[in-house]
Amino acid sequence: MMPSQMTGPALLEAKAITVVFGGLRAVDGVSFTLNRGEIVGLIGPNGAGKTTLFNSLVGLQKLSSGSVVLEGETVSGTKPHRIAARGMTKTFQNAALFPDMTVLENVLTAALLRHDLASARTKAAEVLARLDLTSIADADVADLTFPQKAMVEMARALATEPKVLLLDEVMAALAPSEMDEVMAVIRSLRDQGLTFLVVEHHMRAIMALCDRLIAVNFGRLIAEGAPAEVASHPTVIEAYLGHGAAGKDGAHA
Ligand SMILES: Nc1ncnc2c1ncn2[C@@H]1O[C@H](COP(=O)(O)OP(=O)(O)OP(=O)(O)O)[C@@H](O)[C@H]1O
Ligand SMILES: [Mg+2]
Repeated sequence: MMPSQMTGPALLEAKAITVVFGGLRAVDGVSFTLNRGEIVGLIGPNGAGKTTLFNSLVGLQKLSSGSVVLEGETVSGTKPHRIAARGMTKTFQNAALFPDMTVLENVLTAALLRHDLASARTKAAEVLARLDLTSIADADVADLTFPQKAMVEMARALATEPKVLLLDEVMAALAPSEMDEVMAVIRSLRDQGLTFLVVEHHMRAIMALCDRLIAVNFGRLIAEGAPAEVASHPTVIEAYLGHGAAGKDGAHA
């Protein structure tokens, strides 16, 4: 690892991000940083503002105020493809794959961000191989299982060659053993240098995967720190109980 990767400034700085929809402050003054090589979980009950925050980071949602700084450069106010080109992209909460295209074609469209058609093909094939998806390269996306779709979502994001990848509930529809497989892939990508911000309602996955957690409720940051600390923080527990969403077994927040 280069010395600059270990010390240097934060990879991503979110500075007082605020997004207002009419009278609703969906994201309200949220600040945090991501360091290189971290896997950070973003948790909070339904409607807390997680997806809106993700969208504001990658340029899909205009900020009402605040800023997003990626590798020391302000990227807020620029277009999603520019932010992707600078190294940050997200997956979509409900798989937004092109259903009538093959797996390879889906990944290829993402690889076109940095490549012409010929080298995009090579890049797409490379990403599929890296995620062990070569055998389904020519399958139609409509015919895939949920775990396969989740992996293709990841492949699409990876084909843009991100430094930081925001995962919005990629494991939502998965069985526990399938989640373990996706988590293993995320960890190995982190070991190869990627940084992750992960939204997931399955607390088991979040606790097993993340180095650090950020919790939000009603658009505000309510806790931040080590996973065990944040998950047992009274304000966080209360936020989930208030939404009636915390199962007694704590398996699904
Ligand atoms: N485009 C929009 N226009 C108006 N209100 C919106 C818009 N997008 C989101 N909201 C509202 O903003 C709030 C935050 O929504 P958001 O989708 O960011 O929450 P979330 O934390 O991702 O929830 P979930 O866990 O259910 O995915 C909600 O009250 C939602 O209804
Ligand atoms: Mg969401």
